[in-house]
Amino acid sequence: MAEVNGRPPGGLTCGQAVRQGERLLAAAGIGAARLEAEVLLAFCLCTDRTGVLQNLHRPLLPRQTAGYLHYLGRRAGGEPLQYLTGCQEFMSLPLLVTPQVLIPRGDTEVLVEAVLELARRDPRPWRVVDVGTGSGAIALSLARYLPDGSEVYATDISPAALAVARENAGRLGLTVRFLAGDLLRPLLDSPGLLGDGFDAVISNPPYIPTGLLAGLPADVRHEPRLALDGGEDGLAVYRPLIDQAAGVLKRGGLLAVEIGWDQALGVTGLLGEQGGFTGIQVRPDLAGRDRIVLAWRGEGHGE
Ligand SMILES: C[S@@+](CC[C@H](N)C(=O)[O-])C[C@H]1O[C@@H](n2cnc3c(N)ncnc32)[C@H](O)[C@@H]1O
Repeated sequence: MAEVNGRPPGGLTCGQAVRQGERLLAAAGIGAARLEAEVLLAFCLCTDRTGVLQNLHRPLLPRQTAGYLHYLGRRAGGEPLQYLTGCQEFMSLPLLVTPQVLIPRGDTEVLVEAVLELARRDPRPWRVVDVGTGSGAIALSLARYLPDGSEVYATDISPAALAVARENAGRLGLTVRFLAGDLLRPLLDSPGLLGDGFDAVISNPPYIPTGLLAGLPADVRHEPRLALDGGEDGLAVYRPLIDQAAGVLKRGGLLAVEIGWDQALGVTGLLGEQGGFTGIQVRPDLAGRDRIVLAWRGEGHGE
C-alpha cells in the first residue's frame, strides 16, 4: 500500500494501534498494558502476537480499527481479557472460556501437577472426579495426562458451566463424563457410577469469603459468583466436600483441593474433624503461598 509522508493512508498502523492501546489500558490501571494491547489487536486481526509484531507497519482497515477500539474500551472498563478473546491456556490445553466459567488460573496447575506426579509414581489407570469443573480445566488436563485407561468424571452445579466444559472436551477430543449436581451427590446417589469408589477427588471449589467479594479487582468481579463465593468464612464448600469425598474415595484414595493462601489451618482442621483422612499435607504455589491440601482416605498414606 502507498504511504503518504511516511504514513499509510487512512488510519493507524499495527504499531500505532498497539501504542495507543497500551496508553489507554495503562490509564485504566491495567498492569500488562502492552501485552494486553497486543493480544487484543491480534484477536481482532485473527492472528497471534507474533503476527502483530511482524507487521507493525501494516495499516489497519477501518473496521479492524473500530473492532480494536471496541474491545479496548471493554477491557478498560474491567472485562477480563480472556472473556473478550474467549480463550485461556491451561496445562498447555487451549480452553474456551465465557463469563459462565471461572478463568482457569496458573495456581490450579500446581494442583493438577501434584496429582499427576502422584499418578506417575503409581502408573496404572486412575478413576478420578473433578468437583466444580467450570471450564473443565482440571478434568480435561487429567483426561489428557493421566495414564491410558483412566476414567475422568466431572461435576458442576451450573448447567451453563457444564455446557462450556462439554464444548472444550469436544474441541480437544478428550473423554470426560460430566454430571450436573451438588458436589459429589451425582455419584453418591448413583451406585452404578460410584462402583468400587474413586482413586482421587480433585477440586478447586469457591473459597472467597462472601464479605470480600465486593472488594475484589474489577475483572475478578466479572467472574461467576457461584465460582467465587465460599460463604461467610470461605470454607462453606469444603465442609460438605470433605464429608462426601470420604464416601466416594476408595481406601487409600487421594483428596486434592486448592485453597486460599490463608485457609490451610481451616481446611486441615476440617479434615481432622472429619476423621477419615491421613497423611494431610499443605503445599505451596509458585509464589510460596499455601495453595493445595492433599489427604488420603484411611490410614498409612501420603509421603
Ligand atoms: C473456583 S471455580 C473452579 C472452576 C475450575 N475447576 C477451575 O479450576 O478453573 C468453582 C466451580 O465450582 C462450581 N460449584 C460451586 N458450588 C458447587 C456445588 N455445590 N456443586 C458443584 N459445583 C459447584 C462453580 O459453578 C464453579 O464452576
